[in-house]
Amino acid sequence: MSQRGNTIAAVLAEPLQGAGGVYPPVPGYLEGLRKLCDKHGAFLIFDEVITGFARLGTWFGANFYKVNPDLLCFAKAVTSGYQPLGGVFVGSAVREPLEADADFILRHGYTYSGHAAACAAAITNLEIIEREGLRDRAVHIGKRIGEALTALARDGVIDHARGDGAVWAAGLHSTQSNIKIRDRMLELGAITRAINADTNTFCPPLVITDSQLDKLLDAFAAAASGK
Ligand SMILES: Cc1ncc(COP(=O)(O)O)c(C=O)c1O
Repeated sequence: MSQRGNTIAAVLAEPLQGAGGVYPPVPGYLEGLRKLCDKHGAFLIFDEVITGFARLGTWFGANFYKVNPDLLCFAKAVTSGYQPLGGVFVGSAVREPLEADADFILRHGYTYSGHAAACAAAITNLEIIEREGLRDRAVHIGKRIGEALTALARDGVIDHARGDGAVWAAGLHSTQSNIKIRDRMLELGAITRAINADTNTFCPPLVITDSQLDKLLDAFAAAASGK
């Protein structure tokens, strides 16, 4: 940005990189993006399609990492996937110049904008997240997964664990196959995702029970140990 800052309108980032391999931000990274954007007059956009709506134990990744974007995109967990819905929160830095002109109309619309059934599902889903305490549940789930994967790393079964909230990854040794582990786990009755060449990921629904979590983690431990 020091070379091309005046031509950059915005920086778009996931607070925690999800499908790219589950990489939490290194300390200072998001704060650094915020500072660079402020310095060069660019907007900071968070893609919270994975991190939004309680995945990290807070409503948004922005809350978890305490960095505020100017725009925030969300989808998936707003309805827990029961209806297709996505949206964008528009912060004051983006809104104020538009709202300053009382005659300005943002001519923007989709065929299914504000679709009533999708929005009704979202409102009910958000009530359920509140009622069932699923933000706290995400913290509990993440702690269980994080501790289990860290123990496996300590025992040398995997190379390392990484994650935040209720999204975790097992970083494998180069001798292990994430595909073979995924397939073996399926035989044992549990689903993981094989991402990149060396990673299995864990992002369970926040309603998963403790015994289901045990089954998931036992299946991973067995598969990663070649059993
Ligand atoms: C972080 C992130 N952003 C965006 C998307 C794509 O979302 P959509 O399919 O709603 O466009 C995904 C899909 O998994 C995602 O993980």
